[in-house]
Amino acid sequence: MITTELLQAEAIRARLRARRVGCQLHVLGEVDSTNAHARRLARGGAPDGTVVLAEGQTAGRGRRGQPWFSPSGVNLYASVLLRPSLRPRDLGVFSLLASLALADAIRETGVLPAIKWPNDVLVQGKKVGGSLMECALRGEEIDYVILGVGVNLNVEPEVLHGALGPSGVFATSLAAAVGHEIDRNAFAASFLSHLDRWLERWTTEGPPAVLAAWRERDILTGRRVEVRGRGGQFEARVVGLDLSGGLLVRDTLGRQHLLTSEEVRLLD
Ligand code: BTN
Repeated sequence: MITTELLQAEAIRARLRARRVGCQLHVLGEVDSTNAHARRLARGGAPDGTVVLAEGQTAGRGRRGQPWFSPSGVNLYASVLLRPSLRPRDLGVFSLLASLALADAIRETGVLPAIKWPNDVLVQGKKVGGSLMECALRGEEIDYVILGVGVNLNVEPEVLHGALGPSGVFATSLAAAVGHEIDRNAFAASFLSHLDRWLERWTTEGPPAVLAAWRERDILTGRRVEVRGRGGQFEARVVGLDLSGGLLVRDTLGRQHLLTSEEVRLLD
């Protein structure tokens, strides 16, 4: 049984290497969802770079409205409020910054991560974390963006599998992968520092740098997948990430499809 240290703002701040991310750091006990909390702060005028972390979530959400298993005291649940000057059409690529920063933080713990489109971060072929971007527009302009990240750090695999049911076999925790407990304060600081660096790169180099880095970590290109979406399901081969952050696939009849919100399952 792993008993981890509580999240502590001072411990995170002491390790944080960031100019923009973490200008305000809210460390909460249990909350409905860090994304929902960040949204409330955003509506109250909180600045770019505000971070919300919580020990646990009672209504954590993943992609497609799925619940995100969020037991207290063992994992990382983080949301970063940003007010970027961005064209709405760049949002798809912007959302990739969260999984890039997460993959960098994971690599620092000694294992090699991979990214499965759109936002799953895997180690040893199993999902350890994911990210969820939410945004609010003001007319044609972006008012704010929230990048929310959940990572299974120290949750016991049996607990995780018990909570997720059959799909639990595709999930693991970082502690199980590296073989020792993960210091959540150090991990949080590492993730936030990497995110800050990626935001800086976005500002100076723009989407091409992000797309190139993401492609290096991508595990789907060239692989056979099953695609599930609103229009049903089909088999395809992955062509690669498109310039908008969508996934290009070619079905068995040779037709190309650009995926934006579909679910993709590896077949080989
Ligand atoms: C996914 O489906 O893979 C994305 C999961 C994102 C979960 C995180 S946990 C912190 C933040 N708050 C939420 O309610 N969701 C995100």
